[in-house]
Amino acid sequence: MAGEFKLKDVLPWGRNRAEYVAFFDLNDIDTDTRILDCAGGPASFNAEMTAAGYAVTSTDPLYRFSATEIAGRVDETRIEMIAGLRAALHRFDFTWHESIERHEAIRMAAVGDFLADFEAGKRAGRYRSAALPELPFSDAAFDLALSSHFLFLYSDHFDTGQHVANIAEMLRAAAEVRIFPLLDLDGEPSRHVEPVRALLAERGFDSEIQQVDYEFQKGGNRMLRVYRSGR
Ligand SMILES: C[S@@+](CC[C@H](N)C(=O)[O-])C[C@H]1O[C@@H](n2cnc3c(N)ncnc32)[C@H](O)[C@@H]1O
Repeated sequence: MAGEFKLKDVLPWGRNRAEYVAFFDLNDIDTDTRILDCAGGPASFNAEMTAAGYAVTSTDPLYRFSATEIAGRVDETRIEMIAGLRAALHRFDFTWHESIERHEAIRMAAVGDFLADFEAGKRAGRYRSAALPELPFSDAAFDLALSSHFLFLYSDHFDTGQHVANIAEMLRAAAEVRIFPLLDLDGEPSRHVEPVRALLAERGFDSEIQQVDYEFQKGGNRMLRVYRSGR
């Protein structure tokens, strides 16, 4: 993921609001909470939350491309994504999605909702092209920053130090960071979680792991919460 960001390297696959609410235990969040979705990709979280009156800004280097370019990339990769899932079916729990067909339909609906919202949302400043470890926001611009299916999942792409730098940057912009899942792409617990927590603690950032009501990757039902100052 390091180096020049190219659309052909991205497998655009987006989650929806109900999934984000479950990943990050957002049931009690209120409309005043300023939320930053880091590496938001083609998720429909921003579109659905905005329609419901919440304040969400999403960042991703993907947002430098147009809706048409992103839609083209989705078309190129969806067959590959489903084939990859079928090949590793034993590693997934279909309680939430019921079946692989329903899973694909949910993903495509989320991408469709994202694409329908994207150009207007970009003009409104709700989708900002940016790549961690640098965010184009002032200190404490947000209350809560989320990272879904990016940090820890890509454990082979970012080392422990890069994870710490990415999370520290999110904590500069937001009072709390939540990250889900804590597994890597092979479905194994990310080797970076505990070293990252120890290094964050040295910098004065408390963290805790919370079990959540969502498990698609088997064993992937935990999120990390990190706080800029004491809880
Ligand atoms: C698997 S997608 C997750 C999308 C969304 N958060 C979700 O859960 O549906 C991972 C995203 O990370 C983005 N990404 C890659 N490098 C990044 C970086 N350095 N900073 C922020 N996002 C990055 C990709 O463009 C891609 O959209």
